[in-house]
Amino acid sequence: MCGIVGYIGKSHCKDLVLGGMQRLEYRGYDSAGFVFVNEKAACLSYLKRTGTVANLAKELSVFDEDGFSGIGHTRWATHGVVNEANAHPHFNCKGNIALVHNGIIEEHESLRNELIAQGHKFLSKTDSEVLVHYFSSLFDIYKSVKKATIELVKKIKGAYSIVVLIEELPDQLLVIRHNSPLVLGRQKKGFFVASDVIAFSDKVDEFAFMPEDSIAVINKNSIQLLDFSGKSLLPVWQESNLAFVDVSKDGFEHFMLKEIYEQKKVIDKIVNFYRLVGTDSKLSASDDLGNALKYQLDIEYQDRIWQQLGLSLKTVKNLKKINLIAAGTSWHACKIGQFFFESISNIQTSVYLASEFCYMPFFKEKDSIFIFLSQSGETADTLQALRLVKSHNVPTVVITNVPSSTMVQESSGFLPMQAGPEISVASTKAFSAQQSILFILANRIALELEKITLQEMKSAEEDLFMVSQVLEMAIENYKWEISNGLAEKYSAYDKYIFLGRHISYPMAMEAALKLKEISYIFAQSYPAGELKHGPIALIDETTPVVLFSALDEIIYKKLLSNAQEVKARSGHLVVFAFEGQNELIGLADYAFVLPKVNPLLAPLACTGVMQFFVYEITKRLGRPIDKPRNLAKSVTVE
Ligand code: AGP
Repeated sequence: MCGIVGYIGKSHCKDLVLGGMQRLEYRGYDSAGFVFVNEKAACLSYLKRTGTVANLAKELSVFDEDGFSGIGHTRWATHGVVNEANAHPHFNCKGNIALVHNGIIEEHESLRNELIAQGHKFLSKTDSEVLVHYFSSLFDIYKSVKKATIELVKKIKGAYSIVVLIEELPDQLLVIRHNSPLVLGRQKKGFFVASDVIAFSDKVDEFAFMPEDSIAVINKNSIQLLDFSGKSLLPVWQESNLAFVDVSKDGFEHFMLKEIYEQKKVIDKIVNFYRLVGTDSKLSASDDLGNALKYQLDIEYQDRIWQQLGLSLKTVKNLKKINLIAAGTSWHACKIGQFFFESISNIQTSVYLASEFCYMPFFKEKDSIFIFLSQSGETADTLQALRLVKSHNVPTVVITNVPSSTMVQESSGFLPMQAGPEISVASTKAFSAQQSILFILANRIALELEKITLQEMKSAEEDLFMVSQVLEMAIENYKWEISNGLAEKYSAYDKYIFLGRHISYPMAMEAALKLKEISYIFAQSYPAGELKHGPIALIDETTPVVLFSALDEIIYKKLLSNAQEVKARSGHLVVFAFEGQNELIGLADYAFVLPKVNPLLAPLACTGVMQFFVYEITKRLGRPIDKPRNLAKSVTVE
C-alpha cells in the first residue's frame, strides 16, 4: 500500500503536497517522491529518495522552484526493492509524463515485455512503471487524455489508483481509480486528490470519494468525472468538517506507548457511546464523564444501533449465524469475539481470514450476517471479502476506526470503534476497542433475543468498565519490573513460543504477532493442547514459552497440564495468570498475575501488560517501534 497526494490550483503545490504526504506515511515509508510542473522552467521537475517524507522535504526546501500542479507518493514496496529507481514517480521515455501508483498490476511482466519490444526503456523493477509507458504509447496514438485512459483501463488488470502529470498539459491532473481508494478535495483555490482524506481534510471545503472504476480529469477550476466507458459521472461532494486531528505523541517516546496507555479511556468511551442508559444506571467513573453525558443514549438506542448497522429488528431477531472476517490483529479480535457471540448471544459463529475467504466456496446461509473488522477500513483482503459477500446480497456490517473509509462506503452499516487515530503500525488500542465492541454487540443481540435481561446488559457494561481499570492497573503493577531488568532479560532470546487455549489462544496469537512485527524476534503461537502433537520437540531452556491462562475452570486445568508438560522438559515458562491460580503461578519462571474478571474478558484484561512487555523488550533492541521494517499501517494490496 502506498500514499498518493496531488494538487492543482492557484496556490503553489509543493508544501501542500508534501504536507499531505507526511500525513499518509502510515501507508508506506520505504521511499518518497514529488513531481510538479515547474512554473519557471515550464517542465516537469522532481525529486525521489528512499526514506521518509521529512528527508525528501528537507532536500526540496533548498530549492525555491514551485508550481501549481504536482503529485507526491509514499511507497511500501510490493514489486522491486527499496531504492531510488523504484520510488515513484515513474516517467515515460521522453520524461514528459509522470505517474504515481498505488496497488498491484497483474501480468505486468508480459506488459513490460510488450513495451520493451516496442522500444520502451525501463528504469525500475516495479509493476507501476509499466503504466506510464503504456499510457504514453496510447497518448501518442490518440492525442487525447480521455481516449488514451479508456484504452489503458481496458488493458490493465489488478488494483490501481493512479495520478498522472503531463508536461504539455500543465493545468491538468489525470486520476484513475480501480480497487484502490482515492478521494477528491475541493477548495476555492483548487483541487486535491489523495489516497486518504486526512491528507487534506482541513484544507478543503468539500471532499468526494472517487467511485470504483472511475476517471477524473482535473483542471484548475473544474473536475470532469467519467466511468471507464467515458460516460460522465457526478462527484458526490460532502462537506469537509473533518478537522485534521494533528496527532502528536503527547510526550510519549513512541505512538505505540501512547496508544497502549489510551486503552482504558478508549474502552470507557466505547461503553459510554454504546451503552443503554436507564434511570437506574450510574455512569462510570470514567474521566470522560462529560463525554458519557454527551453520549448517553436512551433505551430507544437499542433500535438505533440496528439502524446504524443497517439491520432491521426482524433480521436481528431471526439471526441464526454470524460470520466474522478480518486480517491480522483484527482477525485475532474476531477469534475472541466468536466466544462472545456463541456463549452470550447463543448464535453459531464462524471466523474467516480475509485473505483466504475469497478463494473458498461461498455457501449462502439464511438469517446470517457478515461482520468485517478493520481498524483502517482499507485492508484490501477484507475489502475484497466484503465485496464478495455483498455480491450475494447478504448484509455486510463493518466495525472500523475510520468512518470515511472505503469499507464503510461499501457496507450495509458500520459501528465506529471510537478509538481515535491509531498511528503506530502495531495495532494496540484498536485490538482492545474491537474486543469491547464485539462484547457489547453480542450482549445487545442477546438482549434483543431476550437471552439476557436489561440488568444483565448493564452488568456486562460494568464488567467492561472494570476490565478497563484492570488493564491499566496491570501495566502499572508490572511497569517497574518490566522496565528494570525483565525486558532486558527477555530481549536476549531469539525465539519464543506463545500458548493459549479456548479464548486465550487468540491472545497467544496476538502476543506472538506483536512481538515478531516490532522486535523481529521469531515468535510462534500454538494451541496449548496441540503442543504434545509435535511442537513440544521445540521446548528447551533457550526458547521461552509464554502461556496465557483462562478463567474457565476446565480450561484452566488443561492449561495447567500443558504448563507441566513444558516444565517437565526444562522449558522456560512465563505465564499471564489470574489471582488464585497458584499452581500455574508456582510453575512459572515469571508470572504476570491479574485480578479475576468476567472470564470472557480475560484476554482484554491481559492485553495492556502484554503489549507493554513486548514494547519494552523491543525498545532494548533499538527497533523503529512505530514503523517496523517491511510493514505499513494499512495493507491496501492483496
Ligand atoms: C497488527 O499489529 C498489524 N498492524 C496488522 O496485522 C493489522 O492488524 C492488519 O493489517 C489488519 O489491519 P486492519 O485492522 O486495518 O484491517
